[in-house]
Amino acid sequence: MKTALVTGASKGMGLEWCRQLGQNGYLVFLSARSQDQAETAAARLRQEGIDCIGIVLDSGNEESILLAAEIIQEHCMALDLLVNNAGINPKDYPDKEKMASCFKLESLNADAVLEVMKVNSLGPLLVVKHMLPLLKNSPEPKVLQISSWLGSVSQVQFGGHYGYAGSKNLLNMLNKLMANELKQDGIISVCVNPGWVQTDMGGSKANFTIQEAVSNMLSLVSILKPEDSGKFLNYDGEIHPW
Ligand SMILES: NC(=O)c1ccc[n+]([C@@H]2O[C@H](COP(=O)([O-])OP(=O)(O)OC[C@H]3O[C@@H](n4cnc5c(N)ncnc54)[C@H](OP(=O)(O)O)[C@@H]3O)[C@@H](O)[C@H]2O)c1
Repeated sequence: MKTALVTGASKGMGLEWCRQLGQNGYLVFLSARSQDQAETAAARLRQEGIDCIGIVLDSGNEESILLAAEIIQEHCMALDLLVNNAGINPKDYPDKEKMASCFKLESLNADAVLEVMKVNSLGPLLVVKHMLPLLKNSPEPKVLQISSWLGSVSQVQFGGHYGYAGSKNLLNMLNKLMANELKQDGIISVCVNPGWVQTDMGGSKANFTIQEAVSNMLSLVSILKPEDSGKFLNYDGEIHPW
């Protein structure tokens, strides 16, 4: 049975990734920031017949990532797919002052921006770091880093948005560097733009339903080749401009 770990799976695309991977025969490690969130979401999917284990993983906390890896190792020897989906967008912060500290130059705050980068850019790399022994045990290990078109330098037409757009651009670069480093291990790691999706983050006016967005990205998993590693892909498999 294939195995997968999904981060940020309490809701939104992460939860749907777990559902669709389960429907495709994977044993799924559904991870969320708290035990309560993880267990509630995993129980919901198990009721739908999904083979799913809820675990705690906070992408902004390396100790939590290490503990998650140890728990997964108690259940299996190998991880075939890692979906680094967890993400934060300061536009969603209830504290408007904190939000502005990631958006506007005049109120820019280094700690606030670094907090976004810790979760959105470095977190995904640290998850790979600690899952590496499990990934290396898979015959075809794959990593999907959920990025965003907002991280594309060549397409950016807006100003501000330093925290989120900056963090997704950094994720694209860090993934390219990591993919090159991991080439000899046969690990394929790509960044994927899911498009604009109807989640809490994307809002109700977005182009894609959650189901459509995850189904699009899931179609890519089986066709990824070693030469794709390090690429920034659109949800339809086309190259996304850097
Ligand atoms: N929706 C879009 O249009 C869109 C477009 C481009 C890219 N994306 C990317 O797609 C991914 C999924 O977003 P979504 O739209 O599904 O958003 P969402 O509904 O807001 O879900 C975000 C998920 O990430 C989790 N999360 C946040 N910080 C975390 C942390 N430190 N550790 C672990 N989990 C954490 C949240 O958990 P809590 O419940 O604990 O907050 C939640 O489960 C994100 O990386 C996002 O940047 C979304």
